[in-house]
Amino acid sequence: MSAEPLEIYLEEQDLGRSLREDVRLGLTATPKWLPPKWFYDARGSELFEEITRLPEYYPTRAERAVLAAHATDVAELTGAKTLIELGSGSSEKTRLLLDAFTRHGDLGTFVPLDVSVSALRQSTEQIAAEYPGLRVRGIVGDFTRQLDRLPTGGRRLVVFLGGTIGNLLPVERAEFLTAMRAALEAGDWLLVGTDLVKDPTVIVPAYDDAAGVTAEFNRNVLRVLNRELGADFDPAAFTHVAVWDPEHEWIEMRLRAEHPTRVRVLDLDVDFAAGEELRTEVSAKFRPAGIAAELADAGFSRQAFWTDPDGLFGVSLARAD
Ligand code: SAH
Ligand code: AVI
Repeated sequence: MSAEPLEIYLEEQDLGRSLREDVRLGLTATPKWLPPKWFYDARGSELFEEITRLPEYYPTRAERAVLAAHATDVAELTGAKTLIELGSGSSEKTRLLLDAFTRHGDLGTFVPLDVSVSALRQSTEQIAAEYPGLRVRGIVGDFTRQLDRLPTGGRRLVVFLGGTIGNLLPVERAEFLTAMRAALEAGDWLLVGTDLVKDPTVIVPAYDDAAGVTAEFNRNVLRVLNRELGADFDPAAFTHVAVWDPEHEWIEMRLRAEHPTRVRVLDLDVDFAAGEELRTEVSAKFRPAGIAAELADAGFSRQAFWTDPDGLFGVSLARAD
């Protein structure tokens, strides 16, 4: 079966409007910040895929190990008919789930949702070709805004992999889980991957690799602003910074202006002092009990929690109460 044409929940003009709002809010704040979803144009999505293959970036390999060991459990426990994937990117690890459902279930439909049109187009075409019996409905959308529009009917399993839930701030995460629960029926399922708290000497290099790929990924957001909004950032004038925050148990990516810099974006003159930093991402790391509590607060009961053999990354399977 070939992939169906992408369903568009987010038109170009919605994306543009939401980028302009975020830029106005974040670049006039103190300290300055931008939400991480704007990394992912075609180049940003490719750079992320390159990050997943870096020796220092353990989360993808660790999560893949969990899914390789437990995909069959997921298929058998959930008996899902529809698999919805949020922030699906290349859906590379999701194939482990699709394989398990092919062997053990009767999954009919796969619905990947992402803001990145390029990633979605590529993944839907490949998956439709690889799984001929599966209906593949890609959705261009924003998982912080549009969960109320997810497809209904049949037992659903929503998967949110990669630890992307950790890129939401705690208050956004609670809102996300509440909206997720509201979008599901009792008995539907959520599978969520979370990177776990560990020694920062392991975490920091994963976000500051020797080859500089993460630095390019980080600076890519400036290129997106230049292209989409006609801004005049000089990406080379900003240094990539990755800092572990022990109080919040998250790592932050920032871009530091080495010299005083004025940037023109929209109708704003944005001044950076020498050494001033712009926060571009937080990536929270979790403790097993904390994840269960956050799920419970939103109306989910965790039925299983698996980690890779090194205990780096956790995957929770929860049922909507
Ligand atoms: N799930 C994949 C990709 C993780 S990268 C993996 O585990 O490897 C994060 C993905 O989420 C990117 O593809 C990005 O485009 C997407 N994304 C980020 N913010 C988003 C948002 N608000 N709504 C929808 N997709 C988003
Ligand atoms: C998508 N997300 C879970 C990645 C992370 O690890 O927080 C994005 C990323 N940022 C830097 N490297 C990778």
